[in-house]
Amino acid sequence: MSRITPEPAQTPSTTGIAPGRVRIHHIAQAKALGTPITMLTAYDALTAPIFEAAGVDMLLVGDSYGNVVLGHSSTIPVTLDDMERATASVCRSVHRVMVVADLPFGTYEDDPRRAFDSAARLMRVGAHAVKLEGGAQRAPIIRALVDAGIPVCAHVGYTPQSENLLGGPRMQGRGDSRERLLADIRALEEAGAFAVVLEMVPASLAAEITAATTMATIGIGAGPATDGQVLVSSDMAGMTEWVPSFVRRFGELGAALESATRDYVESVRARAFPGEGNYRDE
Ligand code: KIV
Repeated sequence: MSRITPEPAQTPSTTGIAPGRVRIHHIAQAKALGTPITMLTAYDALTAPIFEAAGVDMLLVGDSYGNVVLGHSSTIPVTLDDMERATASVCRSVHRVMVVADLPFGTYEDDPRRAFDSAARLMRVGAHAVKLEGGAQRAPIIRALVDAGIPVCAHVGYTPQSENLLGGPRMQGRGDSRERLLADIRALEEAGAFAVVLEMVPASLAAEITAATTMATIGIGAGPATDGQVLVSSDMAGMTEWVPSFVRRFGELGAALESATRDYVESVRARAFPGEGNYRDE
């Protein structure tokens, strides 16, 4: 009996950059062809298959899980156990998308061996790549992971795990730091990262980086010229009252859920639920 799991059936109506499972060569191909790459965050087996069915190319199990789902005020308290559980839930529920899992704060920065052990836990539960924050200073870590067979997506610009050093969410790469960011990009590419998230950098700089690097650039608050875009899914779907100014709310799911819940509460109170058809008498 073959031990090789067959590739899932192709679903042409929902495929974006790949005919079947999205792999890193499809990301490179999309960049070369100028086909926009779509990425969204996902943290659970409830929403991830909905995003996949809608045709998204990549799902990021972001450490924004801490803010969005766990109720923390930053990503810093997120643990590897948290990320492992969220990544496993997403991976169990999708077949075609590329799943990229965030290495949380304190699990990779200082030691390639430690970074490998952390990344291996996320890969074992089904991730296809990991993401980590930082520029040139992370090059040795990225090189070690890539040498061990783990695709790495980098993340520069505003990096939430360094929010205390950066003074909160603010644009990066302006003035003097522009050259530093360009040097970071060269180091990350050289180290072997296949993609890089550019968060809150000026659109003109994001365009310059995108033209200069072989890595696929995935923008968030970085303008229209990057190779792809990523949003936090709850922001995209309008589930919260406030969203950053670079977000477009593509739906109003928070309001829809509240309205459905209000309807349910009122129906129970009015003894209108359960109604005929919702129960059996025998
Ligand atoms: O964790 C996350 O959601 C992210 C995105 C903001 C890119 O890293």
